[in-house]
Amino acid sequence: MEFSHVPVLLNETIEGLNIKENGIYVDGTAGGGGHSAEILKRLTTGRLISIDQDPDAISTLTQRFKNNENSIIVKGNFANMRDLLELRGVGRVDGFLFDIGVSSHQLDTASRGFSFHEDAPLDMRMSQSGVTAEELVNTLPYEELRKIIAEYGEERYASSIAKGIVAQREAAPVTTTLQLAEIVKANVPQKVRRDGHPARKTFQAIRIAVNDELNVLSHGLDDAFALLGKGGRLAVITFHSLEDRIVKQKMAVWCQGCTCPRDFPVCVCGNKPKAKLINKKPVCANETELLQNPRSRSAKLRICEKI
Ligand SMILES: C[S@@+](CC[C@H](N)C(=O)[O-])C[C@H]1O[C@@H](n2cnc3c(N)ncnc32)[C@H](O)[C@@H]1O
Repeated sequence: MEFSHVPVLLNETIEGLNIKENGIYVDGTAGGGGHSAEILKRLTTGRLISIDQDPDAISTLTQRFKNNENSIIVKGNFANMRDLLELRGVGRVDGFLFDIGVSSHQLDTASRGFSFHEDAPLDMRMSQSGVTAEELVNTLPYEELRKIIAEYGEERYASSIAKGIVAQREAAPVTTTLQLAEIVKANVPQKVRRDGHPARKTFQAIRIAVNDELNVLSHGLDDAFALLGKGGRLAVITFHSLEDRIVKQKMAVWCQGCTCPRDFPVCVCGNKPKAKLINKKPVCANETELLQNPRSRSAKLRICEKI
């Protein structure tokens, strides 16, 4: 199987992980193995556990790293990180990487139903199991649908889009990507139709809901931080503001020291920072990468180190 995905912020991420040749590393979103391959190159006696929930990614990774003794491939959701690692006897980790979201392979494989450019069944499941986008779109009550589109898509026309979906499904179920894209198009003002693809935000919203992406990210980060050893690093690449906000807030809490009011003469809370930020601001793609890989446009990398 052809698995095309150009890893984003590759050098910045690998440098930021500060890899020790005998360390234990986890790539929580291994995809086509672009980042995993670079981590593996730097290990002698260390181990890399490459996790993905998509069977397509697992086949690709298994084939790509079949002769590498340092590589362990695991199919699963990183929300269950603690269990996935415990089962393999891994207790302490020197570095975690999460390159959040969908791969180019998933986006570009029309039959997976992530794209609003090509017609396909409304699927959008990264793991290829569980509830599909079609089931959500045709069964969720209006208010839940509106909320998902408003919150996960940050779409100001969520009410009219959700009304449009409900009206359509009363006639016949919405079953394909182009059907959904057309409903969105018909329920937003003309000016939005000129400004990029009007269905982009709704597709993002439904995809996030199908894969429960924000809750999963939050759990995965907590588990990863708990499993990280002292001096270990956690690197996270996100592609939109909802994900980045979660990462930024988690890291801020871990890095926070005393929380006493400023006018307290001495600290009474006893809080000590558990981590430090490696970069004060998120790292973004440089000009060269932006030219070579337009998908890096919205990528943000944040790294912290446990202390
Ligand atoms: C952006 S791609 C990663 C690409 C990878 N870094 C590379 O260089 O090829 C994201 C991958 O993470 C996987 N993924 C997303 N959320 C996941 C989760 N909660 N658990 C496991 N895998 C996940 C997706 O299936 C996808 O293959």
